[in-house]
Amino acid sequence: MKIFLIGFMGTGKTYSGKQLSDKLNIPFFDLDEEIIRHESKSINAIFAEKGEEYFRLLEKDVLHIITEYNESFIMACGGGTPCYYNNIDYMNKEGISIWLNTSIDTLYKRLANEKEKRPLIRDLTDEQLRAFIAKKFSDRKIFYGQASIIIDEEPVSLDKLIEKIFHA
Ligand code: S3P
Repeated sequence: MKIFLIGFMGTGKTYSGKQLSDKLNIPFFDLDEEIIRHESKSINAIFAEKGEEYFRLLEKDVLHIITEYNESFIMACGGGTPCYYNNIDYMNKEGISIWLNTSIDTLYKRLANEKEKRPLIRDLTDEQLRAFIAKKFSDRKIFYGQASIIIDEEPVSLDKLIEKIFHA
């Protein structure tokens, strides 16, 4: 079973992914962490030194490597992963994608307190952050919406995830 958790920054993909991994006894991968390991550099440093285009290519390559070399896993993807290089089609072909659809208000509340590690938002004022989330979310919805499973409930519960996965 290959499960890809997708959704905007701050939706709790890593948190829910670890919960699912423990419950189902399936290995967990955090795509950002794997990219960091692969490059021996933080996400911020990759963006700053090589640029976003380089990061997106790397993101696609690491996504493919993990998917091809592992039979079964839960993967927390990055917020932009499904939006580049047909990655959403690839995920749906290889396994099940799940969109954690968190409201813009909740995202804003969470991200306003955790800008530092995220290159796309670290230099924004709170007001700019709100506008950034609204615009990016609306651009990305078309990709997120192609997920095999959509979870609208907040907060995401492990029981709901399990129920949806086994009735998909
Ligand atoms: C990004 C989200 C980040 C990380 C990178 C770009 C995005 O992942 O991949 O900073 O484009 O939304 P998280 O969603 O885990 O924060």
